[in-house]
Amino acid sequence: MAVHRRHRYNDQPEHDECISFISSRPCLAATLSASPPALACVQITKAYGGGDARVFALRGVDLTVRDGETMMIVGPSGCGKTTLLSVISTLLAPDAGQCRIFGEDILEFSEQEKEHFRLQRIGFVFQSFNLLPALSARENVAIPLLLQGISRAKALDKAKHALSDAGLPAKQHALPGALSGGQKQRIAIARALVHDPQLIICDEPTSALDHRTGQQVMERLQHLVKTFGKTLIIVTHDSRIFEYADRIAHMDDGRILDIQKKGVSKS
Ligand SMILES: Nc1ncnc2c1ncn2[C@@H]1O[C@H](COP(=O)(O)OP(=O)(O)O)[C@@H](O)[C@H]1O
Ligand SMILES: [Mg+2]
Repeated sequence: MAVHRRHRYNDQPEHDECISFISSRPCLAATLSASPPALACVQITKAYGGGDARVFALRGVDLTVRDGETMMIVGPSGCGKTTLLSVISTLLAPDAGQCRIFGEDILEFSEQEKEHFRLQRIGFVFQSFNLLPALSARENVAIPLLLQGISRAKALDKAKHALSDAGLPAKQHALPGALSGGQKQRIAIARALVHDPQLIICDEPTSALDHRTGQQVMERLQHLVKTFGKTLIIVTHDSRIFEYADRIAHMDDGRILDIQKKGVSKS
């Protein structure tokens, strides 16, 4: 018979211990303690346009990503990778299918709930960076914090540190137009991380970076995964960063064809 440890006074019980404390019924305790996957997509479809111009970008995508996992998605240009990331990040509504993030049904959210969810839980690095040209590097990085309602002074201070962490301490006041592709990409990554999101979604995050800077960015992202249990979903063509993946999903023509585990070559 399982013996449950007693709640210690003046000490926070561990999660499992806490659930056992609430209920001694094993099945209920197990149900409550099992954390949902970071992402669970089932048969997601999405088409753009209508009539003869209709393009089927997603034709039934099934994808599950565990909490704390690094999942990379690879596939030829036009196969639907960016569309899939847009759905996962709540920026684009699919035509059909189900999508849960950390157990929450994001397709049921109102626009306001989606925005709140993104601001609290998701960091997104866009393929085209999406920096606002009239704002300095530091102001761009501060955007998620300002949208969360944090004071301007505090947001700019945090953004300054985020830019230093990204290796760009001297570019605080530079406008995006005066920066290289690699620098813009690092600012976009700093902006995706500044509000400490649980799920980090990156569309080609190392495409504009040289090998050494790309490795540095991946080391940083891996540090967040290993130390803070973040979940990473990365679309990439960059085979030099595959070593950082726990699994690699191969996508073509709007579908995930197979998923390769770390250290196991694709069949
Ligand atoms: N906003 C859009 N309007 C119309 N077609 C689009 C739009 N975005 C993407 N597509 C089309 O959907 C398909 C998948 O695109 P995308 O998701 O960007 O693929 P990938 O990121 O793998 O290159 C492509 O055929 C693309 O041309
Ligand atoms: Mg793309």
